[in-house]
Amino acid sequence: MDFASAFSEDAPLLVVGCGKMGSALLAGWRARGLDPAHVWIVDPVPDAGRASGVPREHVVADAGKLPKTLSPRLLLLATKPQVVPDALPGLARFAGPGLIVLSIAAGTGMAEIAGGLGGAPTQIIRAMPNTPAAVGRAITAIYAGPEVEAESRILVGAMMAAAGDVVWLADEADLHAVTATSGSGPAYVFHLVECLAAAGEDQGLAPELANKLAVQTIIGAARLLEAGDEDAATLRRNVTSPGGTTAAALDVLMTEDGLARLITEAVRAATRRSRELAG
Ligand SMILES: NC(=O)c1ccc[n+]([C@@H]2O[C@H](COP(=O)([O-])OP(=O)(O)OC[C@H]3O[C@@H](n4cnc5c(N)ncnc54)[C@H](OP(=O)(O)O)[C@@H]3O)[C@@H](O)[C@H]2O)c1
Repeated sequence: MDFASAFSEDAPLLVVGCGKMGSALLAGWRARGLDPAHVWIVDPVPDAGRASGVPREHVVADAGKLPKTLSPRLLLLATKPQVVPDALPGLARFAGPGLIVLSIAAGTGMAEIAGGLGGAPTQIIRAMPNTPAAVGRAITAIYAGPEVEAESRILVGAMMAAAGDVVWLADEADLHAVTATSGSGPAYVFHLVECLAAAGEDQGLAPELANKLAVQTIIGAARLLEAGDEDAATLRRNVTSPGGTTAAALDVLMTEDGLARLITEAVRAATRRSRELAG
C-alpha cells in the first residue's frame, strides 16, 4: 500500500514526540515517499524532524501552537510514556472518528489514551517497535481496538512495515510480554555481545579483536537465521559436534541454571515492570 498518498496538506501526519523512535520512523516513511510538507511535529526540541526535511514552520514546541485549522489524518504518539498524560489534553481537539492515533508509548493503554483525549470516539492503535527500526529492521507488534476501521489497519500496517517486520496482536495485554521480548530484546543481544567479547578477552584476545569477533558472530548468526529454512535449535545442533568445543561450551550454557533460565527471568522481570509502569 502507498501510505504516503494517505497524507496531504489538508490531512497531514502529526508526530507528537520526535526523539529517537519518532525520528527513525519518520526517516523510514520519508524514504518511502512521504512528503515532509505533509508532516507536522510537536516536540520541544527545535531540531526535531530536520533530518527528514520537515519544514521548520511545521515544528512547534507544544500542541497549543499548532494552527487552529489543522486536521491531522494520523497522530503518532511517540513521547516517553511518562509525558503522555501531559501531552494528550492539548491534542484532544483533534479527536474524532476520522482520526487515527498510533501510539508507540510503552505501557500506555488504550483506555488511558482515549481518556486523555477527552473520550471522543477515535481510532486508537498501539504499536511496539524496536530500535532496529533505525535501519529498517524492526519487528513491530500492533494492536488495534475494535473501533478501528479496516482501511486504518491497512494504513498503519503499511507504515510500520516501512520500519521492518510486522505482527498483529489479538489481545492488548500481550503488549507487556512483547515489550519484554522484542521491545527490550535488542539490549539483551547487545549485552550478549559485551559478554562474548569480555569472555574472549578473558582467554587472552586483545579487546579490539575480541569485540570484532563477537559483533561479527552475532551478525553472521543472525544472517544465517534469516537466510535459512532451519530454526535456531537446528542451526545450533548443526555446529555442535559431539565431544567438540561448541559442545563443551553448551554444556555450561544449557544446564538447569543456565542461559535459558536467566533469559526467562529477565523477560519475566521486564514484563512485570511493563505492567507496573502501566499502573
Ligand atoms: N527506543 C525504543 O527502543 C522504543 C521501542 C518501542 C517503543 N518505544 C517508545 O517510543 C517512545 C519514545 O521513545 P524514544 O526512545 O524515542 O524517546 P526520546 O528519544 O526521549 O523521544 C521523545 C521526544 O519527545 C519529546 N517530548 C517531551 N515532552 C513532549 C511533549 N509534551 N510533547 C511532545 N514531545 C515531547 C522529547 O523532548 P525532550 O528530549 O526535550 O524531553 C523527545 O524529543 C516511548 O514511549 C517508548 O516507550 C521506544
